[in-house]
Amino acid sequence: MTDTRAEIIRAKGITKRFGALVAVDNVDYLLRENEVAGIIGSNGAGKTTFFNLLTGFFPPDQGTIRYKDEDITFMKPQQRVARGLMRTFQLTATFDNLSVIDNLVLAFFRAYRKSSMLQLLLNTCKGQRNDPKIVESLETFDLQDIRDRIVKHLSLGEKRRLEIAMAVLTEPKVLLLDEPLAGLSESEIKSVLGVLRQRIGRQTILIVEHKISHVEDFLERLTVMHEGRIIADGGYEETLRDPEVRRSYWQIDTSGEQDRTVVA
Ligand SMILES: Nc1ncnc2c1ncn2[C@@H]1O[C@H](COP(=O)(O)OP(=O)(O)O)[C@@H](O)[C@H]1O
Ligand SMILES: [Mg+2]
Repeated sequence: MTDTRAEIIRAKGITKRFGALVAVDNVDYLLRENEVAGIIGSNGAGKTTFFNLLTGFFPPDQGTIRYKDEDITFMKPQQRVARGLMRTFQLTATFDNLSVIDNLVLAFFRAYRKSSMLQLLLNTCKGQRNDPKIVESLETFDLQDIRDRIVKHLSLGEKRRLEIAMAVLTEPKVLLLDEPLAGLSESEIKSVLGVLRQRIGRQTILIVEHKISHVEDFLERLTVMHEGRIIADGGYEETLRDPEVRRSYWQIDTSGEQDRTVVA
């Protein structure tokens, strides 16, 4: 079945080298509106580097990245964010000495530039705390009970929910998450995936993960990276069955299966 949803990001022939190492090697990648996609791969596969290229953390050595009809290959991260293009953890630092709710207020008003940061800090965000967007965000991300807690006292799972809430408040078209579940306990993972599930259909979600087990019930599409290249890309089940994925990612010996040539 062909996917008729509009294209939102298209990377073409993207390459990034670190000295002699080709961290991302001639990658083509397409994301569509409201897609829930994942990229997995072993450590060092190039996932974070690819992610950094999409967010504009550094430019590629070769290739182009388009957002809708625009070439964004060399655009700075803030320019991409300002277009509502994407929001990531790297760009959503929390203020650890402020409360949960004041972090939400700062994220929201900073994104929409409704007040200067200084004004907000001087007023300690008071007037803004009842903004419907903030109230909704507390509910969606299950932060009501800890709304007044200072961020440095949160558990890792609570902090991750806050980070995602802060990202989502700015209503990005694409939510890019690099290992959002890393370091979390099983119950924290469930809770973070629970809040992400509520975003399905409202924006494109791209999750980069090391461990497939974390995201198996969540993704509609799966891409596998190996040594800088995309070795499989498609529906979740179909990608996991791919012989190259079984060989390179799972390291399953497929040499006895059918007549595929195994490259040493
Ligand atoms: N800033 C950097 N300088 C030099 N080498 C890097 C840098 N970032 C990543 N690498 C290398 O690029 C390869 C891919 O890394 P990375 O993108 O972090 O992989 P992944 O996120 O899949 O674990 C690794 O070999 C890593 O050591
Ligand atoms: Mg990584």
